[in-house]
Amino acid sequence: MTREEKARLNSFVAKNVNMLLEEKGMTQRELAEKVGKSEAEVSRWLTGRNGFSKTAIARLSVALGHDITTRPVGLGTGGNTDNIVKHGNRKVALITGVTGQDGSYLSEFLLEKGYEVHGIIRRSSVDFRERIAHLEGRPNFHLHYADMSDSMSIVKVIDTVRPDEVYNLAAQSHVQVSFDSPEFTADVDAVGVLRVLEAVRACHLEQTCRIYQASTSELYGKVEQVPQNENTPFHPYSPYAVAKLYGFWIVKEYREAYNMFCCSGILFNHESERRGETFVTRKITLAAARIAQGHQDCLWLGNLSSLRDWGYAKDYVECMWLILQQDKPEDFVIATGVQHSVREFCYEAFKCAGITLEFSGEGLEEKGICVAGPKNLVGKTLVAVSEDFYRPTDVVNLWGDPTKAKAKLKWNPNKTSFEQLVELMVKHDMAKVAGEGAAMKVRTNLAEYLEKGIVR
Ligand code: NAP
Ligand code: GDD
Repeated sequence: MTREEKARLNSFVAKNVNMLLEEKGMTQRELAEKVGKSEAEVSRWLTGRNGFSKTAIARLSVALGHDITTRPVGLGTGGNTDNIVKHGNRKVALITGVTGQDGSYLSEFLLEKGYEVHGIIRRSSVDFRERIAHLEGRPNFHLHYADMSDSMSIVKVIDTVRPDEVYNLAAQSHVQVSFDSPEFTADVDAVGVLRVLEAVRACHLEQTCRIYQASTSELYGKVEQVPQNENTPFHPYSPYAVAKLYGFWIVKEYREAYNMFCCSGILFNHESERRGETFVTRKITLAAARIAQGHQDCLWLGNLSSLRDWGYAKDYVECMWLILQQDKPEDFVIATGVQHSVREFCYEAFKCAGITLEFSGEGLEEKGICVAGPKNLVGKTLVAVSEDFYRPTDVVNLWGDPTKAKAKLKWNPNKTSFEQLVELMVKHDMAKVAGEGAAMKVRTNLAEYLEKGIVR
């Protein structure tokens, strides 16, 4: 047996022992007493760091009433797992980026499925965990401090949690910001992926732990084909996309080199009422709500002609899970197959807020003027263009082809339509702004935006 094979076997057996202990409600001390070993030695076995001699396997199997070299019935490591909770055991998932838009929805989804969910959080001077606040304190939801730029912290968490599935969602995810912080973006979005893969190997979990990598339609960048599918050539067009391309290829490499079950979901833009406020959709829905309620005068944007395939984030996290439940590790494009421009998104969002816009002019001179709605707004310019929101290189034609996801994952890409998505975001933001109503008028003109430095 090679060293690699031995390590895999140790990890597999250790996991079985852990599952059996949990199932029987037996402590490590009780097990140590039963097999006549010290608690420290048993603990080393349970982490998979110590090899199991034939005698140890025999003694442990007797003590636990099960051959520990075979997986306890019903505790598969994948397959079709509609009912995850079996024999009192739960699947264990680790989510990096748990505080983000997708991390919060995925946590809810997995908890609902009966998983034990662990998330990685970063320390910050302000405690800003708004998206997952409602989950904290739940018995199967746990948070750990770690950072994607710190290998040791990732190894420590993976060794402690010993996950069945890792969802690597953590990233510096803003394309414009990647031009301002390219090195940090590369460290987190590229090398960070490698750190997760290596941590799984270092903990000898590579044969049992499945890994999902949050890849992106930005890989298609300066697009060479529309719509884009799994076979479309990549042409990354920002520091963010270049970093994510490394993540994509390193996942593929580990899948082939080490036979690991790791996959990339090439997700097109997905939005929600939890979307970060500097991404274009949320910037628009918040502005539409503020303008409708008299708290903002005008919305300044960049390229209005940019085209995106926008879906609902809540629908997309299901795909992340489905991708890891397949028999074979594969990459998937996840998209709606429907494309709209930033201008169309604006029109629709303002309509939901009771304002009809008409666009005229071109490039930097283009304006969205109110032609119907509240009297005090009619005739006013509510949307204008500023060079400050243009990118050095912009991706302008993303349109996904979800044929493979529909066929293999049996996923419905059109659960939430574009119109429904915009409506639910605007509704949410209308209520949010109304709730903030007592606050002073938010005079978000361009000068203030730039001063705050958080605009792009
Ligand atoms: P998001 O809201 O920006 O969340 C990013 C998450 O990553 C946050 O939890 C953030 O933590 C965490 N993070 C950032 N740097 C980190 C570091 N150094 N160490 C640990 N955690 C770190 O992004 P999202 O929209 O949920 O997207 C999730 C993933 O999917 C990202 O990888 C993104 O690139 C990718 N993606 C997103 C889309 C989309 O349309 N949403 C499409 C394709 C791919 P803090 O809260 O502490 O900042
Ligand atoms: N953010 C922003 N702000 N974008 C603007 C603005 C503005 O004021 N005006 C026009 N845009 C255009 C951008 O130039 C871009 O073409 C488009 O709107 C979408 O921008 P974002 O909402 O910032 O998203 P993104 O497409 O660059 O990136 C998002 O989707 C990727 C998947 O395709 C992020 O979530 C990435 O993490 C993700 O990988």
